Amino acid sequence: MTIDELEHLLAQQPVSLLHRLARGRIHRHFRAGKRRLIELLLQHSSQNLAGLESDLQTLLAERQSHLRPSRPPTRRREQTTTTHPKRPASTTSGEESEAGGSAVSLTTWLEGIGVPPPQPFVPDPWQIEALAALAEGDVVVSVPTGSGKTYVAIEAARRAMEDNRTVIYTSPLKALSNTKFTEFSRLFGPEKVGILTGDRQENGQAPLLIMTTEILRNLLYDAASGEIDVRLDTLGLVILDESQYLADPERGVVWEETIIFCPSQARLLLLSASIGNPQDIADWLSSIRTTTCRLIRHTKRTVPLRAGYLHPNGKLVPLFKTVGIPYGHPNQLHPEARRLFTLYEEETMPSGRPRR
Ligand SMILES: Nc1ncnc2c1ncn2[C@@H]1O[C@H](COP(=O)(O)OP(=O)(O)OP(=O)(O)O)[C@@H](O)[C@H]1O
Ligand SMILES: [Mg+2]
Repeated sequence: MTIDELEHLLAQQPVSLLHRLARGRIHRHFRAGKRRLIELLLQHSSQNLAGLESDLQTLLAERQSHLRPSRPPTRRREQTTTTHPKRPASTTSGEESEAGGSAVSLTTWLEGIGVPPPQPFVPDPWQIEALAALAEGDVVVSVPTGSGKTYVAIEAARRAMEDNRTVIYTSPLKALSNTKFTEFSRLFGPEKVGILTGDRQENGQAPLLIMTTEILRNLLYDAASGEIDVRLDTLGLVILDESQYLADPERGVVWEETIIFCPSQARLLLLSASIGNPQDIADWLSSIRTTTCRLIRHTKRTVPLRAGYLHPNGKLVPLFKTVGIPYGHPNQLHPEARRLFTLYEEETMPSGRPRR
């Protein structure tokens, strides 16, 4: 097959199949649109087009076998003689059923979203456990997004400062550092909080310092080469927020070195969204630090996820047939989302071939 023929064949495939083809070939392929994905696939396999073609044929064969009717012919004949009226292919309300079950409506999908009525704050058991564990040693917290990791950071910082210890809080992004600076200044008072990022240095001698992890790593580098920063002398607590970045292929090394160079008298608190191997990380910390590290983990989402699809034309629909996100059930796309996907493909690739 020539490169043009292969490109043409790729252009005829749904984008989901192209993503399967891109797995292991293209880094962060899920960010690419169809046209870009085809370009990247052809670019990546320019030395081995036959390999790409062969994988494509395998996926096509697999899809073909799934498309084959599984019902016996007699059942199909019964269906053709049925007197039930035919259902429309899909509706905008999304209440109609597709082969395999009914789909949630947009109203139901949106239900319950908003600001809840105020309630007294009661810490969750895992938050109390994490703070208690920090009194004994280092702590890795691995809980889903939106669980309340900031509360643990704030309480731990408050306790360390009451003990006249310095606290460093790091985040992977300047924007997040800025947000935390505003939030913590409001909470503890502006004189207690400083910020050190590439763009901003304010109140650098404050007992609670917010910085990007790169800045802390550099401070620790300097200390390792003899330039001890006075702030590190009294350091009692280092909070590494979003520490799932440890696994980042490019920036992970910064978190790794920060942990390795962190002064032994300071407690380490790693806050991360759910990760696959948090126990390995806790064990690693225990092995390289003078104190043991406890893992605090839970996987239940406090704030359930809902997935929606916003078409460039402004139309919002549920992405799946259910309010929640179905795991391990293929073909759960909402019929309306499916229709809009197809529409999008038709609109962006009218001739079935990617535009150059
Ligand atoms: N025990 C609690 N009870 C009720 N609400 C809580 C509790 N703890 C935290 N929250 C609220 O939960 C929301 C999310 O908290 P937070 O931003 O700390 O989550 P997170 O775990 O850091 O999430 P992310 O992974 O996105 O950084 C906040 O509005 C916070 O006030
Ligand atoms: Mg957070």
